[in-house]
Amino acid sequence: QELELKLEELEKGGFDHYMLKEIYEQPRSIRDCMRGRINAAEGKIALGGIKEYANKLKNVERVVIVACGTSWHAGLAGEYLIEEYARVPVEVEYASEFRYRNPIINERDVVIAISQSGETADTMAAIEIAKDKGATIFGICNVVGASIPRVTHAGVYTHAGPEIGVASTKAFTAQVTVLTLMAFYIAQQRGTLTTSKLTSLLTELNSIPEKVQTVLANNELIKDIAAKVKDSRNCLFLGRGSGFPVALEGALKLKEISYIHAEGYPAAEMKHGPIALIDKEMPVVFIATKNSSYEKVISNIQEVKARKGIVIAIVTKGDTEVEKMVDYCIEIPDADEAFLPLLATIPLQLLSYHIAVMRGCNVDQPRNLAKSVTVE
Ligand code: AGP
Repeated sequence: QELELKLEELEKGGFDHYMLKEIYEQPRSIRDCMRGRINAAEGKIALGGIKEYANKLKNVERVVIVACGTSWHAGLAGEYLIEEYARVPVEVEYASEFRYRNPIINERDVVIAISQSGETADTMAAIEIAKDKGATIFGICNVVGASIPRVTHAGVYTHAGPEIGVASTKAFTAQVTVLTLMAFYIAQQRGTLTTSKLTSLLTELNSIPEKVQTVLANNELIKDIAAKVKDSRNCLFLGRGSGFPVALEGALKLKEISYIHAEGYPAAEMKHGPIALIDKEMPVVFIATKNSSYEKVISNIQEVKARKGIVIAIVTKGDTEVEKMVDYCIEIPDADEAFLPLLATIPLQLLSYHIAVMRGCNVDQPRNLAKSVTVE
């Protein structure tokens, strides 16, 4: 047993928990996920796993994404990317709902199943249904040779490496990276992105691992903020556009490891209900980076501050406007909106991690949760 403990310490690589190690691995895991797949200089993407389907993608009329939990959040981020760049309509479905409602799917559809473990029962069942109806199924999985990659027609591995912490971190950013590549790949087949635009996007994508590294350098600040809000009973996460899946993921991370009740919402939905919850006890985390919805998010922040909520904002480096209105700011580097989920998720992972540790929770193995959900 002593040997087992030592082995575990070794595996954690000097970090207190697997989750923290995996958060810190993200500059590497995102890089590994892109390796050999992008040629920024020529504005080209190669995705060996799905290249036989290049023609299919050229004419695809609809993409349906099926997944559960964090992987479903990655799917939502994928929806924004595929619709924006490849101009194909995308639907994102909970696999557990999809499988039980006689979904309308046909042979012209491409279904993308996302799963870290590649073993999730609901996602497997959703794949079988879509396959029976004649759709082409792609998998985005982390575990090589798992069940899902074996039943899909084609797919792209995330190459994030083993994820031990039950709360998904590096697998999520790798899934989003693959979806970003897929969006650009489909765009490439359909001619919806010029080579020069693709060149500039890919050049920026190449710099994302370094930018993630700079976000990680905020760890101490995030820990201080965690100490201020750790005793809260509830927390709201708000974002717009591609900041919305980030908000959902931030809320899921917090609730699953710290047991604080947390909800993610599109910021504009706040006034349709959640605003009633806001008082001086309620922390509200905003994705308030400088992108197309910046001004609108600012007015949502003002609405929360007017009700004395505690605002933690994820902002673009150098932003001074938001800083003046909120309680706490965490900066992330400036980047194209396409890459927002890859950067803005990192501080939320760290925030949840520190809050959970301070509350004495078992961050790597939260109560009632399993790493892969192989039963329905
Ligand atoms: C994430 O932190 C969760 N533990 C959980 O939601 C997970 O993402 C979900 O069960 C899906 O798992 P999969 O990616 O292995 O299919």
